[in-house]
Parts: sequence; structure tokens; C-alpha cells
Amino acid sequence: MSEPYLIEARHLKKYFPIKRGLFSRVVGNVKAVDDVSFGVRPGETFGLVGESGCGKSTLGRVMLNLKRATDGEVRFEGRDIQRLGSGELRGLREEMQIIFQDPMGSLNPRFLVKDLIGEPLRLHRKMSASEIDDRVVQLMELVGLDATRRNRYPHEFSGGQRQRIGIARAIALEPKFIVADEAVSALDVSVQSQVLNLLMKLQQELGLTYLFIAHGLNVVRHISNRVGVMYLGKIVEVASTDELFAKPLHPYTAVLLSAIPQPRLRGKRERIILQGEVPSPANPPSGCRFHPRCPFAKERCRVEEPALVEAAPGRQAACHFPLF
Ligand SMILES: Nc1ncnc2c1ncn2[C@@H]1O[C@H](COP(=O)(O)OP(=O)(O)OP(=O)(O)O)[C@@H](O)[C@H]1O
Ligand code: SF4
Ligand SMILES: [Mg+2]
Repeated sequence: MSEPYLIEARHLKKYFPIKRGLFSRVVGNVKAVDDVSFGVRPGETFGLVGESGCGKSTLGRVMLNLKRATDGEVRFEGRDIQRLGSGELRGLREEMQIIFQDPMGSLNPRFLVKDLIGEPLRLHRKMSASEIDDRVVQLMELVGLDATRRNRYPHEFSGGQRQRIGIARAIALEPKFIVADEAVSALDVSVQSQVLNLLMKLQQELGLTYLFIAHGLNVVRHISNRVGVMYLGKIVEVASTDELFAKPLHPYTAVLLSAIPQPRLRGKRERIILQGEVPSPANPPSGCRFHPRCPFAKERCRVEEPALVEAAPGRQAACHFPLF
């Protein structure tokens, strides 16, 4: 049987050592990603949400092989990417790309737009200057930019247009998988939806698969087929977007949902206010990591860690007392 996933994390961990003193002794670890297993199906958008610092970017980067895993596997088209030779890895680089939150920070301001978009082609393809120019024009048109402006610098473009430049760069080598890390978070709401629509159009036309990372559920709702909710280094719930919004099973998901302002909601959703601070990923709470803040916590939650299991058909949750 062929694998159901284009890319899959299996028991993935990424720890950052905490060093102290003159001899840089390791005194602990920031457990940024701590035993995460999930997969992204070909052609889908998997939305990944959770509070700041819960490990979303680290997970995305380990899956792209931009950071090395501490433990566990990342399988791309069935192959463990950490075991590939250098030639295979080079091929993999072309198949997987990233779009960042801050296009200004990721685009060299001294490069012309045509050179920014053409750079991956120059590095990875044997193409003449005129072939690259033709392809840059084609890519700019594909992402809705005026190609006659390719001899300009990125600062001459608006925030939304700069994000389109970042997207054109990311798709230049025709990748299969793209991690969009807070790709629209810095944009105005109206521009956000234009860029989301562009990403969806490109997905249709180019057969792309996305891991779409954002803080809040409202941003991922429109674009995602499925959503994974992260809390302190763990995925605590996975469901189709419709099912997750209709009925969250994990208390933390319910908290995130209750934070979205909903002017005309049938059957009003009560706003749940979280108690306490986000605990440190260097010293996560015992048992269920959410227990110090969970409004539904019981004694068992303090001692026994809940595994991410099938809690309802096609849905996973890591909670001893899911909200049915
Ligand atoms: N290079 C690093 N060295 C040490 N700790 C790190 C490093 N990168 C990330 N961390 C820590 O790992 C944890 C997860 O960080 P990460 O950036 O993945 O979170 P995030 O969910 O993407 O947050 P945000 O929503 O703010 O982008 C945080 O506690 C962070 O401080
Ligand atoms: S296991 Fe317990 S503490 Fe954790 S989310 Fe479920 S009810 Fe809350
Ligand atoms: Mg991040």
C-alpha cells in the first residue's frame, strides 16, 4: 500500500540544550518539539496553530531539514530524510520550500526583484540569463505581480506584494511541499485574504501541499483541510477544519476557539479565560502539560500523560476527558 502522506513526522523531537557557566555545561533542554507524530496528505493544507513559543516554527523547520531532529523520523514520500545522501538531499531541497512571515527580513534589500526570484533558478538549474528572465516574468504573472517592475527593489513594493515576491521565489523550482510560517500574519486583514486566495489558487494549479502555520485558528480556517493544535511541544488535537470548528474535543482547542470574536454565532460560544502563564518548555508540567491551566483538569491529569489517540472517527485528541 502506498503511504497516505506526502510528508510525515514520527515521534519527532527537537530539544535545544540550555548551557550554563564557564564550561558551557548542559543543565537542561528546551523541549521545543517533544514526540510529535502527524502527516500531511498530498494536495492538502494542514493548518498548525498554537500560542507563541509552542514549537510550530521549530517543527516546520525540522520537517524541512533546516534543523536536525534530536530524535524521531521525518518521512518524505516514504523516505526518512535524515538518512539521505548528499545528492538525494539536494534534490529534496528543491521539493520542499518555506515562505516566511516577514518578506523584508527574508529578501535581500540590495537585490532587484528579478534577481531575488531568479536566484533559486541560478543556483539549481542550468538556465541561460534569458531563460531565467522568461521564467521570472512567468512567475511574477502567476503570483499577480506586474512583471514590468522586475528591475525594481523590494522596498518599492507594498507588504502584500513583497509576500508575493517571497511566494514566487518559493515556487520557482516547482516544489511539492511548502511550509508557510505565519505567511500572512504581518499583513492587514484585507491583504491577508488576497494572499490566502493566491496560495489556494497556486495549490490548485501546481498541485502543492502546504503546512500552514499561524497563531490563531481564524487565519487557518479558510485555507486548511485539516488542523493540528499544538501546546507546549505537543500536538494535542487533529481534525478536519469543519469538525474542529463545529466541536473541539480538546479543552485547549475550545479555549483557542472561544478567543475568536464571533459577531453572529448561532448558540453563543462562551469565552473561556485561561488561568496562569504558559509554562516553560524546559520544565513542562507533569501528566497532561495543559493541566495547570485546564478548566476541566482532574487528579488523573496531574499524573498521567494523555496520548494522542483516535477520540472519535477520523479525529485525534490527547486528553483523558475529551469534550463530547
Ligand atoms: N535556536 C534555539 N535555541 C534555543 N531555543 C530555541 C531556539 N529556537 C526556538 N527555541 C525555543 O523553542 C521553543 C519553540 O519555539 P518556536 O519558535 O518553534 O515557537 P513558535 O510556536 O513558532 O512561536 P511563535 O508563534 O512565536 O513563532 C521556544 O521556547 C523557543 O524559545
Ligand atoms: S487531560 Fe485533563 S488537564 Fe489535560 S486537557 Fe484533558 S481534561 Fe484538561
Ligand atoms: Mg514561529
